[in-house]
Amino acid sequence: MATNPTLIGIYIMPEIDISTYELKEITFDQIFPVWNEKLWPGRKSKIEPMSSLVWESRLFLSWGNSNINKDSSIFDKYEPTFFGLFLEKELVGANSGFRTEDTVYRSRGLWVSPEHRGSGYGQFLLRCAAQQGKRENCKVIWSMPRKTALSTYEKAGFNKIGPWLDETVEFGPNAVAYKYL
Ligand SMILES: CC(C)(COP(=O)(O)OP(=O)(O)OC[C@H]1O[C@@H](n2cnc3c(N)ncnc32)[C@H](O)[C@@H]1OP(=O)(O)O)[C@@H](O)C(=O)NCCC(=O)NCCS
Repeated sequence: MATNPTLIGIYIMPEIDISTYELKEITFDQIFPVWNEKLWPGRKSKIEPMSSLVWESRLFLSWGNSNINKDSSIFDKYEPTFFGLFLEKELVGANSGFRTEDTVYRSRGLWVSPEHRGSGYGQFLLRCAAQQGKRENCKVIWSMPRKTALSTYEKAGFNKIGPWLDETVEFGPNAVAYKYL
């Protein structure tokens, strides 16, 4: 994890113009205010750099299963990466990613500021997480999009599986969605 923002590369996404935007790897401290105040306002559970939720991808691959479990051991095994999309000095979009198994990557905490929505930045930030997953030798990326965000995920190549979950999630309904890398 970087201690200061660093430009992490040029991402080719011809369908959007990101020439005036900068994508940077940021720290948990930098993404936290956005998550706390804008993505999950009033959230009851503590916001940590990673979530312990894991998707049982092996069951999915053999049985189409979308089960989610908790496994805090991933905190010791894997490192999160935080992405910030900046317009000048303003953070206008954010996302993060980390492994939940050796070859399974999760995208978590996608947010785009309301004034910048609808221009493809959400998809772009999902692709950033997918590229990081590939860099870490993952074969599949998954996430838990809200119902209202699913179209953004589908446009970035994710497929929803299983039911919408309402009771076990705070900002739902959410469902599991995945994409092969
Ligand atoms: C979900 C979110 C990240 C999408 O970001 P985005 O940059 O607008 O997404 P994209 O432009 O890449 O995706 C296009 C989709 O965004 C939605 N969209 C389009 N214009 C929009 C606008 N002005 N405002 C909100 N959503 C819009 C549409 O559903 C669109 O799909 P469509 O073209 O099929 O209608 C953003 O709306 C957001 O931060 N929402 C609040 C937090 C949230 O729900 N995060 C996801 C948690 S899983």
